[in-house]
Amino acid sequence: MNIKQILNEKVSAAMTAAGLPEGTNPAISLSNRAEFGDYQANGVMGAAKKLKTNPRELATKVVEQLNLDGIATKIELAGPGFINIHLDQNWLTEQLNQVAQDKFIGVAQRGVNAGDDAQTVVVDYSAPNLAKEMHVGHLRSTIIGDAVVRALEFRGDKVIRQNHMGDWGTQFGMLIAHLSDKLAGDEVAETALADLENFYREAKIRFDNEEGFADRARADVVKLQSGDAACAKLWQQFIDISIAHSEEIYEKLNVSLQRSDIMGESAYNDDLSTVIDELMAKEIAVESQGAKVVFIDEMANKDGEPSVFIVQKSGGGFLYATTDLSACRYRSGKLAADRIIIFTDARQGLHFKQVEIVARKAGFLPEAVGYQHCPFGMMMGDDGTPFKTRTGGTIKLAELLDEAIVRAAALIKEKNPDISDEDLSKISEKVGIGAVKFADLSKNRTSDYIFNWKTMLSFEGATAPYLQYAYSRIQSIFAKAGVTEDTATENTPVINIVEPQEKALALKLLQLEDVIDAVISECTPNLLCNYLYELASLYMSFYEACSILKDGIEADVKASRLALCKVIADTLKQGLDILGIEVMDRM
Ligand code: ARG
Repeated sequence: MNIKQILNEKVSAAMTAAGLPEGTNPAISLSNRAEFGDYQANGVMGAAKKLKTNPRELATKVVEQLNLDGIATKIELAGPGFINIHLDQNWLTEQLNQVAQDKFIGVAQRGVNAGDDAQTVVVDYSAPNLAKEMHVGHLRSTIIGDAVVRALEFRGDKVIRQNHMGDWGTQFGMLIAHLSDKLAGDEVAETALADLENFYREAKIRFDNEEGFADRARADVVKLQSGDAACAKLWQQFIDISIAHSEEIYEKLNVSLQRSDIMGESAYNDDLSTVIDELMAKEIAVESQGAKVVFIDEMANKDGEPSVFIVQKSGGGFLYATTDLSACRYRSGKLAADRIIIFTDARQGLHFKQVEIVARKAGFLPEAVGYQHCPFGMMMGDDGTPFKTRTGGTIKLAELLDEAIVRAAALIKEKNPDISDEDLSKISEKVGIGAVKFADLSKNRTSDYIFNWKTMLSFEGATAPYLQYAYSRIQSIFAKAGVTEDTATENTPVINIVEPQEKALALKLLQLEDVIDAVISECTPNLLCNYLYELASLYMSFYEACSILKDGIEADVKASRLALCKVIADTLKQGLDILGIEVMDRM
């Protein structure tokens, strides 16, 4: 079910019939005021401008050709050429009942089913650097990426997750040299690496101060990169433990990444010299002061100097950039991606622009393959500076998540003092983690945002607890009414849309797929967050205005409203699931 898509097709057909060029965008959008109908088609104005004709006259022609029988009750022309569409309540009711039916009989989820349009999408997200513990900077990539992945899968696209972990590069020389000494001194790797942050600090101090250590570290990287078995073994031990740290976090965050999704920087090592050879052979890269460099004229500065992209250092070492070029080739070739999406903080914008230009020139990335770097802003503390510990250190993600759970537990205990310890621990985990995720996901991706415990854990406003509470409130109505999943499956009551609150809900419920489509095209989960918040708010108003279980409510009205509640609960659950946020029957 996708209202926008249906209207898009109908208005497109009318536009063509009215003589507009094939493929003119009807620009269907939701109306923001009830008097403008439910949807608007705004594409005529743009088309008229191109054709240098009167938009109002053109819109009249389009309306004449527009057949929305059975779908809309009124089509109006407004302003310079807006087409306002008032949907037919009966049609909405029918569509909603179809959704309810599909749900009740347990037909596959409400996916949009991309069908022939399904794409193979490679999504590169999370990608922590394994030399250190995951810190808050990796939170955004991890959860925004995971939400987009789930949205794509919901639509029916084939998703290939790529966790491009930072598991290579010069710091590993210092780390394995330090590890080697620790192991020689009888320590086991697990204890030595229990606190990665500490371990890194120790190694760095030795690197900076200890006579001869830096040279050893540098020699170890060279050995590692040329396949020395002893170094490789140390490196592997280090990596395994560091990956296990990340996996604990993924588990806690309810993020879908698996070990098999890891394709770290090291995995490209053997391909890097080929990448350079090809760039040289095609004369895309040139020697410059001993290094190999691409001068990118397309990104020249205002003095006409090209942007400089180093692909191999003067000593022969490869860079982050080289790896990303190799990744382009692997993803569009071996993985047969139609679209590649990469989530990193905004500071890497320039890097990915350069990668794309060079990869396209070199033929590593065919024109047909989409390449989309999705930047995000930073998480800030209350004082508006980057989020740090009191002493100015980076905040470990594991600690932040634990704190969220503790804070949620206090909140829930306060609301519900008699709760059992077992329930409390389950619920506070879902609420605490949900709150952190929703607070982040609901922000516009590209801007910085202020991390604030109080607002994210509030039961009011656009927060996870508010949505989870709306869901569990519906479940408690079912419990009171004696509705179970089984009784619901046996006979699906017919939903009857009568009250304005019910109509508003019907329309909203039928927009889930529209919203998911928008989330997918711009990689903006905040649209889904807004949607779910609006849905929950509409439910709250409906609940105030329309009795469900009160004495004297007619049986069919009660059944209809319960069925409506079921679709609401399912939609909330489905939507939150795409965000990787869990719901519960009681809280
Ligand atoms: N490890 C990098 C970081 O922490 C992110 C990697 C993103 N992906 C990529 N293909 N470069 O910033």
